[in-house]
Amino acid sequence: MRILVVGATGLLGKEIIQLMSPKHEVIGASRNGPALKVDLSDQGSIVAMYNDAGPLDAVICVGGTAKFAPLDELQDSDFDFSLANKLMGQVNLVRCGTQKINPGGSITLTSGTLAQHPMPGGAAISLVNAGVEAFARAAALELRDMLRVNVVSPGWVAESLQMMGRDATDAVRASVVAQAYRKCVEENISGQVVTAAR
Ligand SMILES: NC(=O)c1ccc[n+]([C@@H]2O[C@H](COP(=O)([O-])OP(=O)(O)OC[C@H]3O[C@@H](n4cnc5c(N)ncnc54)[C@H](OP(=O)(O)O)[C@@H]3O)[C@@H](O)[C@H]2O)c1
Repeated sequence: MRILVVGATGLLGKEIIQLMSPKHEVIGASRNGPALKVDLSDQGSIVAMYNDAGPLDAVICVGGTAKFAPLDELQDSDFDFSLANKLMGQVNLVRCGTQKINPGGSITLTSGTLAQHPMPGGAAISLVNAGVEAFARAAALELRDMLRVNVVSPGWVAESLQMMGRDATDAVRASVVAQAYRKCVEENISGQVVTAAR
């Protein structure tokens, strides 16, 4: 398969590329990385990336961010940023990809544990993650004759917690999360939210 990974230079992106590369042709994209350029918050940039990428059998998105801050500190601009970036960025990746990904191909998005397990400071991220999951389930219904659409919901990733100096005992390794993306690409599933947690 020819697979595009958006967010290729990040923790999960690098792990997914390492896992999938021996078997598939994998190309990467991000805002500042060495491969294809894309800014998920800019729909024109997504269209340009698809045009540059050529034919694809699968797209994996592990890019896009949302703002972590206490509710009483979140500004309108923080919600705008979060919605435009991790939510609408991934929605537009699907909308713009329907004519670009080969029939029978797949697109795999990313949510996160805060969709189901909220914590203080995570309101904008919970909102975005839950939106990604709801969108993917509905889009999968409508696109079922064209594309499979799934979401991976990572739990806290051990390497991220370690970088933040936090206890990672109950966290999931990035290599285990990468296996959830492999499942979404290689197995005939659609409309699923695949949890990757310890
Ligand atoms: N790590 C965790 O503990 C964890 C837990 C739950 C969920 N998640 C989710 O998993 C995903 C990946 O996490 P990660 O830890 O691998 O993140 P990361 O290490 O920060 O990497 C993010 C990647 O996305 C790219 N990116 C960021 N904003 C972008 C944009 N607007 N357009 C295009 N590319 C963009 C970055 O490259 P550029 O800067 O070059 O664009 C980078 O390649 C995120 O959605 C995150 O919320 C992570």
